[in-house]
Amino acid sequence: MCGIIGYIGDRQAAPIILSGLRKLEYRGYDSAGMAVICDGKMQSEKTVGKLVELENATDEGTKIQGKMGIGHTRWATHGAPTVQNSHPHFSQDGKFAVVHNGIIENYLELRKMLTEAGFTFVSDTDTEVVPQLLQHFYNGDMFETVSKVVGMLRGAYALGIISTHDPDRIYAVRKGSPLIVGLGDGANFIASDIPAILSRTRRVYLLEEGEFAILSKDKVDIVDADKKVIHKQVYEVDWDVDAAQKDGYEYYMLKEIMEQPRAMKDTMGPRLNGNDVVMSELSMPESYYKNLSKIFIVACGSAYHVGLVGKYVLEDLARVPVEVDLASEFRYRNPIIQPGDLVIIISQSGETLDTLEALRDAKKQGARILSIVNVKGSSIARESDDVLYTHAGPEIAVATTKAYSTQMDILFLLGLYLARVRGQITSAQEQELVEELKTIPDKVQAFLKDVSGLEKLAKQHKSVRDVFFIGRGIDYAIALEGSLKLKEISYIHSEAYAAGELKHGTISLIEDGTLVIALATQQKLFEKTLSNIKEVKSRGATVIAVVMEGHTEVEKEADVTIYIPKTMEVFAGALEVIPLQVLAYYISYHKGLDVDKPRNLAKSVTVE
Ligand code: G6P
Repeated sequence: MCGIIGYIGDRQAAPIILSGLRKLEYRGYDSAGMAVICDGKMQSEKTVGKLVELENATDEGTKIQGKMGIGHTRWATHGAPTVQNSHPHFSQDGKFAVVHNGIIENYLELRKMLTEAGFTFVSDTDTEVVPQLLQHFYNGDMFETVSKVVGMLRGAYALGIISTHDPDRIYAVRKGSPLIVGLGDGANFIASDIPAILSRTRRVYLLEEGEFAILSKDKVDIVDADKKVIHKQVYEVDWDVDAAQKDGYEYYMLKEIMEQPRAMKDTMGPRLNGNDVVMSELSMPESYYKNLSKIFIVACGSAYHVGLVGKYVLEDLARVPVEVDLASEFRYRNPIIQPGDLVIIISQSGETLDTLEALRDAKKQGARILSIVNVKGSSIARESDDVLYTHAGPEIAVATTKAYSTQMDILFLLGLYLARVRGQITSAQEQELVEELKTIPDKVQAFLKDVSGLEKLAKQHKSVRDVFFIGRGIDYAIALEGSLKLKEISYIHSEAYAAGELKHGTISLIEDGTLVIALATQQKLFEKTLSNIKEVKSRGATVIAVVMEGHTEVEKEADVTIYIPKTMEVFAGALEVIPLQVLAYYISYHKGLDVDKPRNLAKSVTVE
C-alpha cells in the first residue's frame, strides 16, 4: 500500500506521474514505480528506495514516452521492499499493469488457482494476483473483465489498471481504500490522495465503495459493477496542499485516530478465515506453542503498554505465564530466559534501539523471537524468527494511535490462537470470541462518528494541572496508555494508577478539582473501581468515568460518563482507549500546541 497516481491526457505522462508521486512522499514509502503505454506497448520502471532513484532511472521521466500511465509508491506489507515486489504489477503476458492500495485477503487462494492454471508469479505480494486474473479472464471486453476480477477479490483495495488491449483508458475501482478521480482540461487523473493532483486540478470525484471509474483523456464515467452509470457530484477542493495531505484534518494524529477502524480490519482480516484464527506466518509447529512455559513481552512506550494488555489477554485466554518488560530494563536486568522461551517484541517502527538490543540479548540466550512490527523490512523484523506485521499503514504523528490499536489486535489474535492450540478454549468458544472481535472495528467507527462531546469536554479541562487515570486489570493497562497520550502531547502532568493501589499513597494528592479519569469496563472489577471512584470523589476530585453502555449506575458517582459500545471484557481495551486518544488530542489542540510534533519527542528513538 501507499500512494497511487494515474494520468491520461495530451502530455508526456511519466514526468506528471513522478511529480504526483513526489506529492505523496509524506505518506512514507520504500520503493516506487510506474507503467506507461506508448504506441500500444507497455513500458515500466521500478526502483527501491527514494523517489530520486526512479527519477534518475527515467531521466526525470523524459525517457519514458506515452501519454497515459499509472504510478505508485509502495510501503511494504506483503514481501520485502524489492523491485519485484514494488508496483505496478504485471500479468505474465505483460499486457495488464496494476497499482493497488489495501490488502487482498484471499490472495493465497487466488494465487493457488492461477498457479494451477499455469501462471508464474514474480513477487511475494497479494497484488500480483490482480493482473494475472485479468489476463486469465480477459474476454475482449475490458470493463467486463475488470468487473469480474474485482468481484473475486476479498479485502480492501484501491486499484488503478491499464492494459495494452485498451490503451486509451484507465480503469479504477475502490473498496475500503481511498481513491479519487481528478478532472482536468483534456486530461484526467486517478490518485489515492488529493495532494497528488492538487497542482493540476481542484475538481474531483470522491469514489465511494464499489464504484468504478473509466477514464479517457476527455471523459470520465463512474459506473457500478454492471456498468450502470452513477451520477456524481464534482467536489471542489478548497484546501491547500498541507491540509489535503491530512485528508482535511488539521493534524495527522486525528486523521490516524479516524483511520483506526480500517487499520484494524486490514490487520485482522488476513488472519481470519471465517471465525478461525489463521497464523500462517508462524513458522513453529503448534506443538511448540502448546508446550510453551513462559512468554516475555518486551517493548518501549505505547508498545510496552499494549504489551501489558497482552499479558492480561494471553494469560486469561491461553493460560500461559507472561512477563512484560520495558526494553531498557530488560536489557540490563539479567532476565532468566530458558532456551526455547518465546520473546514477543513489539515495535511500530521496528527500529527502537533499546527494543532491538533487548531482542539481540534474548536471542543470544536461546529465546525464539516473535515480533509485532508495523514497518516491513525494519531491523527488528529482519532479526526476528517470525514477524506478525500490523497493517496500520505509515504513522506520522509522534503520538501513536493506529499502530497501538493494531498491535492490540495482533495480541488478541495470538491469544485466541494460543488458547486453541493449548486446549484452553473449545472451538465453539473460539467462534464466539472471533465473532465478537470482528465487530470491534465497526464499533470503533460508530464511536468515532461523533466526537463533539469529547471535544467539549477537552476544552473544559484543557487548563487542569494534574490528571490521574485509574483502572483495574485491562483498564489499568489502558489507563497507562491514556495517561501517556495526554502527557506527551498536552504537557499536563498525568499519572496512571492501578485503582486498588491509590490508597497506598497517591490518594493524598487528590484535592478539590483534581481530575480523575476512571476506567471501569471489567465486569468483575466494576464494583471495586466504583468504590475507588467514591473515594476520590469524597476528597474533591472531578471524575470522568469510562464504562460500557448500560452501566448507568456510574452516573450517580461520576461528574461525566463516557459510554463505549458493549463488547466482551477481554476486548474492551480496543474500545476504551479511543476516547482517551480523542481527549488527549483535543486538549493539546485547544491548548494551541503542535499536536503532531510534541516537544522533546521523536517518532523513532534510535538512541539509547
Ligand atoms: C517513541 C514514540 C512512541 C512509541 C515508542 C516505541 O517514544 O513516541 O509512540 O510507542 O517510541 O516506538 P516503537 O517504534 O518501538 O513502537
